[in-house]
Order: sequence, then structure tokens, then C-alpha cells
Amino acid sequence: MNFDPQIPDWGKSFLVKNLDNLITYHNWLKNTGIKTGLISSKNDQFIWDEFIVHSLYFYKIILDLKLSKNNLYDLGTGGGIPGLPVGIVSNKNINLIDIKQKRIYELERFISSQKYNNIYALKADAQKFIQQEVNSIFLMRCYLPKNDLIKKLEKHMINNKSNTFIVSSNSNTERLSQEAFHVKQEKFLVNKDEYRFIDVITVK
Ligand SMILES: C[S@@+](CC[C@H](N)C(=O)[O-])C[C@H]1O[C@@H](n2cnc3c(N)ncnc32)[C@H](O)[C@@H]1O
Repeated sequence: MNFDPQIPDWGKSFLVKNLDNLITYHNWLKNTGIKTGLISSKNDQFIWDEFIVHSLYFYKIILDLKLSKNNLYDLGTGGGIPGLPVGIVSNKNINLIDIKQKRIYELERFISSQKYNNIYALKADAQKFIQQEVNSIFLMRCYLPKNDLIKKLEKHMINNKSNTFIVSSNSNTERLSQEAFHVKQEKFLVNKDEYRFIDVITVK
């Protein structure tokens, strides 16, 4: 193996039982994922740190917040990031949503080859879910910038009062309505010395 399947202290427990499955997913990303354009060409360590470790922090937030909603979605999933690693370590039912059919076919092939019966890939427009779903958790990594998401939520406030949005972010938060939204920013290490940010957005 020419990379270190490391995880900072916050995620050690996620690797205990799932390391083999996560390494299988890593292999798939670095081979099929790059070949079919699900991810751009990256080295093995980058794929592990940025796609797998980063994804697992989304699940840590779900656990920390003791969120138990009816549905869990990864919107704009691409190569299953972050939803596939979340599904692998959690056994929770999770829906991977992407608008591109080819991406969904690739994900379906991988999911069925690994016999994961809690992970589903669905070709759909993510916007529909933001507008219609209730009592759900939405994960988004590099799909919709936070400020664009907030504009969409403003149009559908009623449904979204019961939803939780966990969204990758940069360190800056634009000013937004404190009366309407609560944004909690999580800063975490993806390896020994690099930090990333995820926002948890709640509609008040
Ligand atoms: C930048 S990629 C991010 C992929 C993955 N979440 C990641 O972090 O690597 C954005 C993904 O969103 C998908 N996408 C764009 N618009 C969408 C929409 N309206 N509904 C669902 N998926 C969409 C694209 O096909 C693409 O796979």
C-alpha cells in the first residue's frame, strides 16, 4: 500500500471494523473513479485524506448531534462523497443523489458488487429534495456553496424547519439572517496538520 490509511483521533473508532471496506472503496475511487471521471486524477494519500477521512467527519457530526431523522441524503454525491463512507461505517440507510445518470450507474455497480443493502444511488435533481423533503438529514460536499443553499432554503422555510444540512465549507461565513438560521461551524483535522470546515445549518 503506498499511502497511510490514517485518521486523526476523532475518527479512530470508525476504522476499527471498517478499514478493509474503506480501502476497497479507496481502490475503486483511484481506479474506476478516476477512469470514469467521478473524481479528477489525485494521488492515493489525497484520495484517502480528502475523500474518505473528510467524509467520515460528516458521520461524526450526525453522532455528536444525536440526529435521528427519517431520511439521510447525500446531494450531488459524484463518486459517493461523503455518502458512501458514511454508509459503510454507519449501516444507516443513505441515498446518494446525483443528476448525472453515468455517475449513478457507476455507483450502483460498486454498491451491488460490495452487497451494501443500506446504500442507494438515485438519479435525481437535488433541488427537489431541498424543496420537498421533511425530517431529513442532507449531506453536501462541494455541491452547493452555503450561501446559495441558504437562498434556496429561504424559499422553502416551512419544510426545512425539520431538516438538518451538513455542508462542506471554507472558513468564511457571509453575513446571514441570525433570526432565520443557526450555523454552527466545525473545524477538524483531516490528517496531522491540515484543517477542514463543515457547517451545520438549522432553519429556526
Ligand atoms: C463538484 S461535484 C462534488 C461531488 C462530491 N460530492 C465530492 O465531494 O467529490 C458536484 C456533483 O453534483 C452533481 N450535481 C450538479 N447539479 C446537481 C443537481 N441539480 N442535482 C443533483 N446533483 C447535481 C454533479 O453531477 C457532480 O457530481
